[in-house]
Amino acid sequence: MDKLYIEGDKKLNGNVIISGSKNAALPILFMTILTEEKIKISNIPKLTDITVAIELLKSLGAKTKYQKKLLYIDTSSIKIYSPPYDLTKKIRASIWMLAPLLIRFGQAKIFLPGGCKIGSRPIDLHVKVLIKLGAKIVLEKNYISASIRKPLIGKRIYIEKISVGATITLMSAATLAQGTTIIENAAQEPEIIDIAKFLNTLGANIIGAGSNTIFIKGVLKLNGGEHRIIPDRIETGTFLIAAAVSKGFIICRHTEPKHLKNVLIKLSESGAEIETGKDWIQLDMRGKKPKSINISTSPYPGFPTDMQPQFTLLNSISQGEGIITENIFDNRFIYVSELIKMGAQIKIKNNSIICKGVSNLYAQNLFSNDLRGSATLVLAGCIAKGITIVNNVYHFKRGYESFCEKLKKLGANIKYI
Ligand code: EPZ
Repeated sequence: MDKLYIEGDKKLNGNVIISGSKNAALPILFMTILTEEKIKISNIPKLTDITVAIELLKSLGAKTKYQKKLLYIDTSSIKIYSPPYDLTKKIRASIWMLAPLLIRFGQAKIFLPGGCKIGSRPIDLHVKVLIKLGAKIVLEKNYISASIRKPLIGKRIYIEKISVGATITLMSAATLAQGTTIIENAAQEPEIIDIAKFLNTLGANIIGAGSNTIFIKGVLKLNGGEHRIIPDRIETGTFLIAAAVSKGFIICRHTEPKHLKNVLIKLSESGAEIETGKDWIQLDMRGKKPKSINISTSPYPGFPTDMQPQFTLLNSISQGEGIITENIFDNRFIYVSELIKMGAQIKIKNNSIICKGVSNLYAQNLFSNDLRGSATLVLAGCIAKGITIVNNVYHFKRGYESFCEKLKKLGANIKYI
């Protein structure tokens, strides 16, 4: 069940319901450690990364119940401040247990996190911001030991590099620190706004999330509450690309168009006809030949790095030559060799991909290596001539809920073997 058999040369047309955001749900799950009251979270996507995060909370002693896409969490019985190695290693998001456990217990011991192999994935910025708030942190061979002797004291902290992860770590620590913390050079992703909304629902005092400066007035404790996870903007973008590369038509529903401004601009530039409504995005590429586009990834609201592989596939079958430059991660091109096996004409020059569009890609036996690259290879199989096999598909199960079922509803001929 870790291989996909895909009959290609298909046009993908129809409606798709977008699931909750993986990258909002994961940090929010770990933020529940900050309170001993009951939490209810809706629109949680069914993903292996989410399952791992729930297992991690249970390994600490939390009680969880998943019913009709509603997740109930009660962390009042958490007693352990050092999550198990085997689960911690599975996901990058594990790092977001560090600050909450440190605040809750005055100490924490976290193994270095896992996550997609798309670069070195350091955690130095997470450590630096906690030290600035007054934590004592010792980095051992493969784990972090943190302790605080007195309550953390809020202060103005400039994060030297825009980092979603470090911004979230600092937000969670500052929420229960003494006094006010001002986060400068904060990441501005929609997921950061959703996390702030969740924490404020529990009684936190956070303003400015979504801008580059976030003000957090520390509170004594957090209460319980309910929260609905925002839609997944990267799943949305991936399905828009599915219709674009197959010259089809799609309506993505239960999504948030304003989270994809830059992606929609680039899709229009490639010739797609885009229409949007309150919670839907329509893309029409029927009867068109996409035009190559140039992209440079940057922190939100710039073009998202998580859409880089998908747009390389679009450039692979577009008219002309397109250049995509990756500025966030230092090794996010591993999928490119698999597209070249299919006949794509791609050259890599430093941190740029130069792609000369071809008329067709041809089926191959492909190997996934990371989440977004894996999803891109599946889409390549849907449009290539012949039967494509994609191996190691556990990668995309980490971040795409019912990916194959949703693609089949759009006309893909795809099955697990
Ligand atoms: C989050 O990763 C997302 N992951 C990534 O999505 C997303 O690509 C990334 O943010 C966008 O910036 C989750 O939310 C689980 P960062 P994160 O901290 O927090 C460097 C996907 O496909 N850095 O914003 O790890 C880092 O190496 C995944 O869903 C440090 O140098 O990203 C990178 O170059 C992939 N030191 C840059 O900053 C640190 O301590 C941005 O990283 C932390 C990060």
